[in-house]
Amino acid sequence: MIELTDRKPREFKGDLLVYFAGEREKKMADCPAGPVRKAVRTAWKAGDFSGRKGETFLFYPAMSGPGGAGELRARRVLVVGLGKPGDDIPALREQVRIAAGTAAARAGSLKADKVLVVLPAGVELPPEDIAECTAEGLLLANYRFDRYRKADPEKEERVPVGRFLLHDGGLATGSVRRGMELGARAARAACSARDMANEPGNGWTPSSFADHARKLARRTDMKCRVLDRGAMKKLGMGGILGVSQGSAQPPRLVILEYRSAKKNPTLLLVGKGLTFDAGGISIKPAAGMEEMKYDMCGGAAVLAAMEVVGREKPSGINVVALVPATENLPGGAALKPGDIITHYGGTTSEIINTDAEGRLILADALAYGIETYRPKAVIDLATLTGAVIIGLGHHRTGLLANDDTLADGLLEAGDLAGEPLWRLPLGPEYRKQLDSEVADIKNTGGRPAGTITAAAYLQEFVGEVPWAHLDIAGTAWNFTEKSYVPKKAPSGIGVRILLNFIRRHSLT
Ligand code: BES
Ligand code: MN
Ligand code: ZN
Repeated sequence: MIELTDRKPREFKGDLLVYFAGEREKKMADCPAGPVRKAVRTAWKAGDFSGRKGETFLFYPAMSGPGGAGELRARRVLVVGLGKPGDDIPALREQVRIAAGTAAARAGSLKADKVLVVLPAGVELPPEDIAECTAEGLLLANYRFDRYRKADPEKEERVPVGRFLLHDGGLATGSVRRGMELGARAARAACSARDMANEPGNGWTPSSFADHARKLARRTDMKCRVLDRGAMKKLGMGGILGVSQGSAQPPRLVILEYRSAKKNPTLLLVGKGLTFDAGGISIKPAAGMEEMKYDMCGGAAVLAAMEVVGREKPSGINVVALVPATENLPGGAALKPGDIITHYGGTTSEIINTDAEGRLILADALAYGIETYRPKAVIDLATLTGAVIIGLGHHRTGLLANDDTLADGLLEAGDLAGEPLWRLPLGPEYRKQLDSEVADIKNTGGRPAGTITAAAYLQEFVGEVPWAHLDIAGTAWNFTEKSYVPKKAPSGIGVRILLNFIRRHSLT
């Protein structure tokens, strides 16, 4: 929980009071005037603290006399380094997020329950951004998933903070409140995507996506439709049906609609909801296979973003989210290499490798979504290829698009979110790798350019509509190391990219 307070920091009696200090060339760390200034000066003189990124120091006001930090009533004070001022807005925003994340992590290991954070008013950003990024950093770093573990207070190294209070640090309170609310909503949504992704394959099934979307729709007054196997058979969705036919869990196509006005343009979001990917008959090696419960992170990101869309109700845009959800298992009825399926719309596909299943379920959803909702733009998110990890590692999401304006909007949204994207090319030469002797297309293009050929497969089903594909296989899990991203766990990537994009673009 996070809220704004107008209580004076020096009167705060809680567990932990947090200040930020920037790194300055040669001079002492940049810190707001007041009682902590003396403490920062002392630590700086001792050579212990200069405001570098990740640097912190802690002190206990009760230990010092009156006149300086002794005036403070908080049990502890933490000063967190912001580092040198970043060159541009995205870099400055990320600096604030990272420092706030460091503060929350430290607060967690101190087992502080009530924490007051004084905003770093000296950062060269609009007050709204400072508050937004502080809220994001705090809440994202405070995340924890322990649904399936017995609580053992003795052994816990970190306990999430119960309550964050934000103090405006002298910045305009109205802007600070707006920013804090934007940041808190985005962070909570990203944490809800992490929750879905952390659930094991038997805890989050295709039906879980449907149940979750129905609840969301009820809460925020959106429309939800769920297509089951029967409905998908009637519509001829051979991709989703084919992938699901090897498993006992029934597939779902989940549709969530936010409508502002009929005349407004529609943005279509599609998220891969593969709740467990064993590879099917082209089975994956046993080592690390448990990680394939994360193959639904695209679907999770899309539904989590809709949670905020339903709450904020942006004017000037309609948003429709589609999540094709299924498992990919090697059952007796499973799809086999050599099988030919027919996608929604009639395109036939020769299955070369049943582990290239993401594109099969996305193709149906894209074709159906575009035909049904006539969107002005389409964005899909998917943990689609191992190849994107080879190309970009865990640090950047792959972006492939048939439209430069849409691609540029997403690159910017990603930079502002601290979730950078890197654009890769498309072109007929890559599509050629998917030519089949027996069907309209085949589902793999060999090892070269694996991320691009996967996107080329999707492109076949979007036609001329502006479309962008985010390959999040490297970033949805074990995303680049930073204070507010958990290690070897789902990151909630994409949620804040989508929100930044939707909040800034009316699509008109
Ligand atoms: N879900 C995987 C992609 C993936 C790999 C996600 C590693 C996260 C980490 C996808 O369904 C898959 O198996 N892709 C294959 C495609 C290949 C058979 C053409 C891959 O990347 O190996
Ligand atoms: Mn696969
Ligand atoms: Zn997959």
